[in-house]
Amino acid sequence: MAVDTQDELKFSDQLVAFIEEWRNKSGNLIMILHKLQEEFGYIPRQGAIKLSQMLDVPLAKIYGVVTFYHFFKLTKPGRHKISVCMGTACYLKGGQDLLVELENILGVPVNQVTDNGEFSVEAVRCIGCCGLAPVMTVGDEVFGKVKPDELPGIIAKYKD
Ligand code: FES
Repeated sequence: MAVDTQDELKFSDQLVAFIEEWRNKSGNLIMILHKLQEEFGYIPRQGAIKLSQMLDVPLAKIYGVVTFYHFFKLTKPGRHKISVCMGTACYLKGGQDLLVELENILGVPVNQVTDNGEFSVEAVRCIGCCGLAPVMTVGDEVFGKVKPDELPGIIAKYKD
């Protein structure tokens, strides 16, 4: 994941090439914002400003798109991003209980990052493995049929 500093935000060569490729295509702003979020894990303010300059698009328009679509994040996620599925199957099988327990264990509410920057928790829509409900992911790893009392063990795996 790219480094985000307050002073200067460097875009990878790959991201710059993507921006150039999409510069004049329709729907380019959303595609480019997806790529920007893929690189940084969220939409950093410095990144939005740089993009506004590169594309010659008003910053307000960029934020209009970012705030309209729930997919885009304006805050940096934890090093380990935990996503709990709140799709129908997972909700009915106790997804909400997992969220509450994670808040207790980590000491932060949903959509916030722990003080040490290690973990963040978010609720997401169906991630397509409903047979394993309730489902959660930590980074790219999927956990199915999770019970609240298993959460401390799962979290412990990711602590250094
Ligand atoms: S409802 Fe959770 S994976 Fe589909």
